[in-house]
Amino acid sequence: MNKFYITTPIYYPSNKLTLGNCYTTVVCDGLARFNRMLNKDVFYLTGTDEHGQKIQKKAQAEGKSEMAYLNEIVADTKELWKMLDISYDKFIRTTDDYHVAAVQKMFKLLYDKGQIYKSTYKGLYCTPCESFWTEEQLVDGKCPDCGRAVEPMEEEAYFFRLSEYQDKIKNLLQNTDFLRPKTRVNEMINNFINPGLKDLCVSRTSVKWGVPVDFDPKHTIYVWIDALPNYLTALGYLQEDNAKFKKFWPADVHVVGKEIVRFHSIIWPAILMALDLPLPKQIYGHGWLLFGNDKLSKSKETGKKEVIDPRILVGRYGLDAVRLFLTKEIMFGQDGPYNQELFLNAYNTNLANEYGNLVSRTCGMAQKYLGGVLNPAGDLQAADKTLMSEILNRRKFVLDQVEDINPSGAINTIFEMFSLCNKYIDETAPWAEFKAGNTQRINTILTTLSEAILISNTLLLPFLTDKPKTIYANWGLKTPTLLNEYSAFGFIKPNTQVTKGENLYNRLDIAKEIEELNKIANE
Ligand code: ME8
Ligand code: MG
Repeated sequence: MNKFYITTPIYYPSNKLTLGNCYTTVVCDGLARFNRMLNKDVFYLTGTDEHGQKIQKKAQAEGKSEMAYLNEIVADTKELWKMLDISYDKFIRTTDDYHVAAVQKMFKLLYDKGQIYKSTYKGLYCTPCESFWTEEQLVDGKCPDCGRAVEPMEEEAYFFRLSEYQDKIKNLLQNTDFLRPKTRVNEMINNFINPGLKDLCVSRTSVKWGVPVDFDPKHTIYVWIDALPNYLTALGYLQEDNAKFKKFWPADVHVVGKEIVRFHSIIWPAILMALDLPLPKQIYGHGWLLFGNDKLSKSKETGKKEVIDPRILVGRYGLDAVRLFLTKEIMFGQDGPYNQELFLNAYNTNLANEYGNLVSRTCGMAQKYLGGVLNPAGDLQAADKTLMSEILNRRKFVLDQVEDINPSGAINTIFEMFSLCNKYIDETAPWAEFKAGNTQRINTILTTLSEAILISNTLLLPFLTDKPKTIYANWGLKTPTLLNEYSAFGFIKPNTQVTKGENLYNRLDIAKEIEELNKIANE
C-alpha cells in the first residue's frame, strides 16, 4: 500500500520545549509533507510523554495538580508546532484515556503470555526523593538528585523477559537495515547486547503518577513500557476502532535522537516480538544539535548566553529561516553546532542570496528585457541543455534522498539546483543579449531559467512552508500540491505574464543582528 507512517519521540513536558525538540519535529514534518506530495497516505505522529516522577515533582514545585501543569505545557507545545507549521496528523498524550486503557490491556496480554512476570527489584533507594538508583547513577556514592545517602532496598516489581530476545535483537541490528545510521549499530551491540540483556523492570510501587497495572493496582507501569506503545495506541491498537492501526502499522520510520536509540532498537522490537506484531521498518537515530559543547537540553544550563528560543527566532526571522537551519545545516545522522552566527549566515547565504535574489532577479529581467512576457523556449544551446539535464538529474536524486530518509541531503541538493540556476545566469549573460538585441535568445534563457527555478522550488515546498509557495503567482501559475507537477521542462505557455512579486527575504546585517540578539539573550 502507498502509505507512510512517521513518528517523532513523544517529548517530556518537564519544561518548555527547546530548539532541540523542534529539530526532530521540523525534520519529520519535511519528510511527512514530501511524502504527501508524492501522493502517499501519510500519518505523522507526535505528542507528549506525561507520566513519571519527574513530572509529578515539577507540578508539585509549581503548586499545581499534575494535569493543570501538563495542560499548560501541552498548550504551549501545540502553539509552538503551529508557529513552525507542523502538519502532524495526531498529537498523542500518554494521559489520554484511550492510551491508558490500551497500555493496560497490552501489559495484561504480555503477562498472560508469560512475557511479563512478578519478582523483586533490588536497587539503591533514596528515601526523601522516593527514587531508586543504580550504582552507576550515583554521584560520589550519593543520590544524584539531593546528594543524600542511599540504601539498598527491594520492592516487588514486574519484569519483561528482555533476556530471551538477545539473539533475535542482535541479528536484527547486525543483519538488517532496522537501525540507521549504521554507525549506531556497533554501539548497541558492544555496550548493551554483548554484555548480555537483562530482564527489564516494568513496574514500580514507589511511583504514583503513571498507568496502574489494572490487575494489581499498587503497581504503576514504568516509563518506557508506557511511552513506547504510543506508536501503536495512537492508531487504535487494542481499541474498538483499529482501522488506522490496520492501515498504517508497521511504522515506516521512528525518528529519534541518538540518546534514546537503545530503547527504540532493543527494547521496542523485543516488546513487539513478544506481542507478535510486525516491527517498524526503520529506527533512525539522528545526532544532536550542539550549543557550545552541550546538547541543548531542557534541564541543563548552557553557559554562554545566546538566543536559542525557537519562538524568538521564528518571530524575528520567520518560519523558513528556522526550518532551513534545522533541516539543512545539520547533516542528518550527525551532530551539528548551533549558534546565532551560523543561523544568520545560513539565512543570508541561502535564503536571501541564493534563492530569494534568484527569483526576484529572474522576474526582474523578464520585465526589463521582455516587457514581462515569456513564451516557450526556442532553439536550445549547450548551456540550456546542460542546465536542463543537471536540474532533472538532481530532481531525481532529491526523490531518492527522501526515500532514503536523508532530509539534509535532499535540501542541500535543492539548494545546489538554485546555485546552478545562478551560474547559468552568469554564463548566458542575458544583459549582453539585450544589448545585442537578441530578444528570442533572451526569451529562451529566461524561460529555461524560470522553469528550472520552479522545478526546484516544487521540491522545496515540503521543507520551507512559508515563502516558496507564493512564487508561482509571479508567473501566473498555480501552487502545486503534488510533486508530479512542474516536474519536467516545457510548462511555460505562450504569452505568460511575469510580475516581480514581493521581496522574499531581506538581507540581514549580521553584526547588527548579533548585537540585537545578545541584548535579548541577556535581558
Ligand atoms: O526522551 N538535538 O523525551 P525528551 C537533537 N520522552 N534532538 C534533540 C535535542 C538536541 N539537542 N534535544 C532534544 C524523551 N532532542 C522521551 C521519549 S519516545 C517513546 C519517549 C529531541 O523530551 C530528540 O528527538 O527528552 C530527542 O530524542 C528527544 O528530543 C528527547 O526528548
Ligand atoms: Mg531526554
